[in-house]
Amino acid sequence: MTTTIAVAGKGGTGKTTISALVIDYLTRNKKGTVLAIDADPSTNLNLALGVPLYDTVGDVREETATAVGGSSALGGMSKWDYLDYRISDALVEETAFDLLAMGRPEGPGCYCAANNILRNSVDRLSDAYDYVVIDNEAGLEHLSRRTTQDVDLLLIVSDPTLRGIVAAGRVAELIDELKTDVGAAYLIVNRVNGHILPEPLMVAIEQHGLKLAGLIPADPAVNELDALGEPIVKLPQDAASRRSLEAILASVNGNL
Ligand SMILES: Nc1ncnc2c1ncn2[C@@H]1O[C@H](COP(=O)(O)OP(=O)(O)OP(=O)(O)O)[C@@H](O)[C@H]1O
Ligand SMILES: [Mg+2]
Repeated sequence: MTTTIAVAGKGGTGKTTISALVIDYLTRNKKGTVLAIDADPSTNLNLALGVPLYDTVGDVREETATAVGGSSALGGMSKWDYLDYRISDALVEETAFDLLAMGRPEGPGCYCAANNILRNSVDRLSDAYDYVVIDNEAGLEHLSRRTTQDVDLLLIVSDPTLRGIVAAGRVAELIDELKTDVGAAYLIVNRVNGHILPEPLMVAIEQHGLKLAGLIPADPAVNELDALGEPIVKLPQDAASRRSLEAILASVNGNL
């Protein structure tokens, strides 16, 4: 059984930071095998995790679409077998986890068939792991493109602003329109100064029907790493932001 955790929310709220810390938490605590999926075309989850990235699923699709010379150019394989095979090439295999970056989404005029094959490959690959953690781009485009893979836990990240909460509410509303089934969705408010949110934000959270899982403080240790271009996984174990996130994970899902 795979537990799929997706992280979504407004731009710049801390989705990639939180995704990387969730992955780091799962691997450090040896919770099981982990597949990290970077669903943001700007592909920066690998940087947050401190691992290299060579190829994306988008690169595989483009390459295959433009390959000329029929099956001989593809080592005798059909285009479809080749797509499936190349996904494993795009997979970054680390000791503690594997990473797959989706890259650029399909443009207009792209082969639907290729996309379906790729989706199935990614879904089949995901099934082989205990945990799949998906760092989404702002908005839910990627989730809405997924076909079969359900999400067990959706973490909606917001900053402590009214606009952020409204955007989080919109994400929660969109869930109902998706083909993807979402087991549970929780709001995390990140980069909070102090221990409570201003009353108007609490009211907005309530009005949007969001379930608040917890707050993560604005953490100078995160800024320090960011300034030096260091991966977020180098954050000290006792850093306030890391500890808050771990408490949130433990409280929202018994598997975590
Ligand atoms: N708790 C925190 N304390 C301090 N800084 C933080 C915290 N969380 C995230 N940041 C900083 O906020 C910035 C945005 O974070 P991040 O890249 O994780 O957001 P994002 O939602 O993934 O952005 P995008 O929408 O561009 O993908 C980064 O510079 C990150 O270091
Ligand atoms: Mg990001």
